[in-house]
Amino acid sequence: MRSEGDTWDIVSSVGRTALGVATFRAIEAERPDALIDDRFAPWFVEASGDQKFLGMLADPGSIDQRNFFPRTMGPRTRFFDEYFESATRAGIRQAVILAAGLDARAYRLDWPEDTTVFEVDQSKVLEFKEAVLDEHSARAKADRRTVVVDLREDWPAALVAAGFDATAPTAWSAEGLLPYLPGAAQDALFERLDALSAPGSRIASHGGPGGGDLQRLRAAARQYFDRGPFGDDPPFDLWYDDERADPVQWLTERGWTVQRFAMDDLFESYGRALPELPPDLPAAFAGMRNRMSFWTAIKS
Ligand SMILES: C[S@@+](CC[C@H](N)C(=O)[O-])C[C@H]1O[C@@H](n2cnc3c(N)ncnc32)[C@H](O)[C@@H]1O
Repeated sequence: MRSEGDTWDIVSSVGRTALGVATFRAIEAERPDALIDDRFAPWFVEASGDQKFLGMLADPGSIDQRNFFPRTMGPRTRFFDEYFESATRAGIRQAVILAAGLDARAYRLDWPEDTTVFEVDQSKVLEFKEAVLDEHSARAKADRRTVVVDLREDWPAALVAAGFDATAPTAWSAEGLLPYLPGAAQDALFERLDALSAPGSRIASHGGPGGGDLQRLRAAARQYFDRGPFGDDPPFDLWYDDERADPVQWLTERGWTVQRFAMDDLFESYGRALPELPPDLPAAFAGMRNRMSFWTAIKS
């Protein structure tokens, strides 16, 4: 469970969720019909020594097929890839990947050469990432800058100290982040982000639980997904679902134009069927799936 100001490394607590999604990206990238290319993801899994994820990487067929979460990673990654590609096509040259984890977009995507990509996360996560990328002599395709800071704190100061320019339009992403923030920290995150966003800035993110779903989700998941992809540390045990503003509504009220993408539609647009949930799964979990929509916003 969580506590105020808690920290983690790549094989514990919230840090391990970054390793999990990197594992699912590595598995997606090996599919014959892969939606993404990520040759970096397996490096992280191999270097972590995490037996659960190493086992999944070696034998993706061992993943409980009732669990749809690993199979969301292809469409999810592709969605954020296309978002950044569209932002740079529109002339944006500054990207901020909040809670970057083991996201290798600074290495994977073909950024215009004058683009700066900031990666924000906790220290041990970024240290691990740096060590693995150095070991493989990986070269970023943008001016990549890491920003070690906790997103529950005054992260804008750290971002600006790393060279962020608030007068230039920015493409922000908050992927796999929001449920890990307490409500007040999420609200502050969007206030700070809005204040730092010049006209033309963009953001992409996706929803999380809200209003009581989480307790039901936890109970349902324990019953049905006892062999879940994260083992004994499922991400939803690390989530908060306390009160918070709806970011889509909040941003809309402040002049951002928001576009939503339902998960079913996103899967369909990539030629993937959304994995079916077991018919007897409690409604709480189905409701959760409906919440998992993606969205982008542009500031006018
Ligand atoms: C599920 S992972 C997602 C990583 C990456 N965005 C991706 O999709 O591959 C969650 C990430 O959020 C980061 N994170 C969560 N809460 C944070 C906080 N308060 N400050 C900094 N990073 C945080 C974790 O360290 C972890 O890397």
